[in-house]
Amino acid sequence: MTAPFKALAPSILSADFSRLAQDVARVEPYSGLLHVDVMDGHFVPNITIGPPVVRSLKGATSLPLDCHLMIEAPDRYLKAFAQAGATYLSVHQEACPHLHRTIQNIREEGMRPGVALNPSTPAESLEVVLPDLDFVLVMSVNPGFGGQRFLPLALEKIRRLRRMAEAAGVDLAIEVDGGVGRDTLPGLLEAGAHWFVAGNAVFGAEDPAAAARELKEMIGA
Ligand code: DX5
Ligand code: ZN
Repeated sequence: MTAPFKALAPSILSADFSRLAQDVARVEPYSGLLHVDVMDGHFVPNITIGPPVVRSLKGATSLPLDCHLMIEAPDRYLKAFAQAGATYLSVHQEACPHLHRTIQNIREEGMRPGVALNPSTPAESLEVVLPDLDFVLVMSVNPGFGGQRFLPLALEKIRRLRRMAEAAGVDLAIEVDGGVGRDTLPGLLEAGAHWFVAGNAVFGAEDPAAAARELKEMIGA
């Protein structure tokens, strides 16, 4: 088993969409992934962006695009995200009645599959599919909006997933998303997370590049 790489994954949800490429360029040197939040107004109350923006981002950054689909029936859109240039793609456990098949479909489209868990969804719900995943995304807020307060229940879930991955002998990256920042990072590092999504803590800062640099140093990425 090799340990997954560690990375800061700035979330463009908190960037200025009118100058997205510039905002991304400022934080790119300190980032390992770029987190793209896709919301459909059904699975979550908010509406954001889709494949056309992913395609434009692909041409504007060399960071791997980490697309987080907060949408119902995500299978309908897997090909579109693959063609737009997504490297990592997560679907929500709660949105996928045929999760095993959806994960296979993501891989068949050439992307690296992940499953996201809402705060109320237990780690154990992924036990059967864990060997098929590259990563699990642990939501540490209820999905839909940036800038929410971190829910500490995510810490125990991350620890459990670590133990489950070790027991199954799989190289699983654990991503944490929601309320991640200077204050919550130490506990998350201790729990064993690898990828750290940060929206408000990066793009809401006075100096996003300085904020990203500091978070990257804390992560040891
Ligand atoms: C929330 C999104 C997050 C969001 C995180 O539903 O999945 O990726 O951008 O934003 P912060 O870091 O501000 O909590
Ligand atoms: Zn997200």
